[in-house]
Amino acid sequence: MPPVSERVADLRGRLAEQRGSVVLGLVPTMGALHAGHGRLIEYAKRDCGFVVVTIFVNPLQFDRPEDLDRYPRTLAEDLRFCDRAGVDLVFAPTPDEMYPTAPACRVHVQKLADHLCGRYRPGHFDGVATVVTKLFNIVEADRAYFGEKDAQQLAIIRRLSRDLNISTTIVGVPTVREPDGLALSSRNQHLSAAERTLAVALYQALCEAHGQLMAGVRDVGLIKEAAGSRIPGVPELRLEYLEIVDSEEMQPVDEVKGPVCVAGALWVGTTRLIDNIQWNP
Ligand code: PAJ
Repeated sequence: MPPVSERVADLRGRLAEQRGSVVLGLVPTMGALHAGHGRLIEYAKRDCGFVVVTIFVNPLQFDRPEDLDRYPRTLAEDLRFCDRAGVDLVFAPTPDEMYPTAPACRVHVQKLADHLCGRYRPGHFDGVATVVTKLFNIVEADRAYFGEKDAQQLAIIRRLSRDLNISTTIVGVPTVREPDGLALSSRNQHLSAAERTLAVALYQALCEAHGQLMAGVRDVGLIKEAAGSRIPGVPELRLEYLEIVDSEEMQPVDEVKGPVCVAGALWVGTTRLIDNIQWNP
């Protein structure tokens, strides 16, 4: 098993032994590790001589208490996963270790958090940006790996890094999917068998949008209408949003002229799933 640090000071001590002699990679996660996280670790191992995975269910980024309560916590399994993946060190702090006192200072994200998930999850991206900044400062990695699955999060972290002169290089990693296209997510384990079958509708809607773009359609209203029609009208499914935004600033566009991100959030029963695809004309 990889060594596990639960304390910031302990982690820093262990990293001090490595610093300078290897490229240090960071993979931040909230645990319940799956092959999507595994891909991030693979990318990190390819580039870096020493890979740190952090496992922390960050209360600051949960807008609904019930989502935080039922978020899967599977540390023993996660450590076995990290062992198999060749992770060098795991940082698994408690909430008290990360937030010994209620934080008086947070990172506030403007504009990039106004649409998509940011619109429906107030405070979520401030919570993400704050914890990721803390992890950057704690680990001081050369490179950090984030999934394209969370496109708005990745865009925000890239911008955070630019705006706050973070010295860690941000690396984006393509989305890992089930054979039917459903993006892997820790939240998929909440789905019943029937819900799991329905959940693929989100990916199918994104594929429809992609097909429209490939066919030359540029009017966002038309693309959204075609994509939305791929979500079956059954009571278990509720489309929270399906938007087309520019890939950098995450602002909605009316007409596709440059690189865009087609992103959606779908409620499947009581589980909220997100996914996206990128389009470069
Ligand atoms: P979590 O949801 O655990 O995801 C950790 C990382 O794995 C994120 O960068 C996410 O984009 C990536 N990931 C998740 N599913 C993926 C998939 N199917 N394919 C590729 N990558 C995938 O995202 C978070 O945690 C948190 O917000 C965090 C950044 C750790 C801050 O708390």
